[in-house]
Amino acid sequence: MSKLLEITDLSTHFFTRDGVARAIDNVSLSVDRGEILGLVGESGSGKSVTGFSILGLVDPPGRVVSGQILFDGQDLVKGGERLMRSLRGRRIAMIFQDPMMTLNPVLRIDTQMVETVLAHEKVSRSKALERSREALVAVGISAPDERLQSYPHQFSGGMRQRVAIAIALLHKPDLIIADEPTTALDVTIQAQILSEVQQLCANSGTALIWITHDLAVVSGLADRLAVMYAGRIIEEGPTADLISAPMHPYTKGLIESVPKGKQHGALLTQIKGMTPSLLKLPSGCKFNPRCPRADAACQTEPDLDPVIGTDRHVRCIHPHAEAGA
Ligand SMILES: Nc1ncnc2c1ncn2[C@@H]1O[C@H](COP(=O)(O)OP(=O)(O)OP(=O)(O)O)[C@@H](O)[C@H]1O
Ligand code: SF4
Ligand SMILES: [Mg+2]
Repeated sequence: MSKLLEITDLSTHFFTRDGVARAIDNVSLSVDRGEILGLVGESGSGKSVTGFSILGLVDPPGRVVSGQILFDGQDLVKGGERLMRSLRGRRIAMIFQDPMMTLNPVLRIDTQMVETVLAHEKVSRSKALERSREALVAVGISAPDERLQSYPHQFSGGMRQRVAIAIALLHKPDLIIADEPTTALDVTIQAQILSEVQQLCANSGTALIWITHDLAVVSGLADRLAVMYAGRIIEEGPTADLISAPMHPYTKGLIESVPKGKQHGALLTQIKGMTPSLLKLPSGCKFNPRCPRADAACQTEPDLDPVIGTDRHVRCIHPHAEAGA
């Protein structure tokens, strides 16, 4: 059977007055049914644009310029807004960093949730209300009846995000794209929400793309990781393999810059240099001005190639050895 989501050579560019910002270039990614993929990278690397492109939510001056997004065999790029409207919220849902992107400030929670159910399903109002109530309980909200009658401003940030997650889960979608949904919350709430979402997805067989700049957060959650740099996927593979033996020099740098609990006070390695401007990308490998392994060969941009004998891909001419090699 084909994968649930299969993105091939997807490019989304922004046509600005200052030039063309190639926000994502030839991104290829796939997600299996029920799988959790962590999409990781620094600010500006193209993570959100990837998520928005999948959902058909890229606004001008941006547009998907090429590539294919196959969702359960249907091409979302070709299908356009009509196909997307029938899938969005029902089979593919998004959780944003700011829950108010999902919630309407002037409507009570019960109204919003019931309307969401009725948008895609022919059920009675009372059935829709019962489903909403169950969804709130599932995301750890106590006193759901009281909460249903409240407005978003009556909730804390963490509670608001829980409600947004409950809404995303209402239709038991096949895929959820979560764009830094816990970044604004305190660490304890973050950890709670993370494990609840993981559990809920496992129970309903929902696949999840968890977008974050925080490798430490996602490595405890994801089955696979895809690392982005300057609008490209530079490494992809099973989480444990990637963390224990990163092959791309950028991934290795990222991992070495994450503080580890046990090495309190140890010096962290920082990746030297700055993220390049998308309007003025270096020639060849986009990481070459910052890369300790760069040489003349890196003036040619490498492809994201499969690593023979493994379930991994890497975009590098001189990769580090994979574990056991
Ligand atoms: N509306 C826009 N107009 C012009 N350029 C844009 C627009 N939105 C995104 N971009 C370009 O796309 C790049 C990638 O943006 P994106 O939001 O995907 O980054 P990100 O990886 O999600 O970063 P962050 O961690 O800060 O959320 C940006 O650096 C910017 O150059
Ligand atoms: S291709 Fe070259 S410059 Fe790019 S990451 Fe690999 S070694 Fe570094
Ligand atoms: Mg983003």
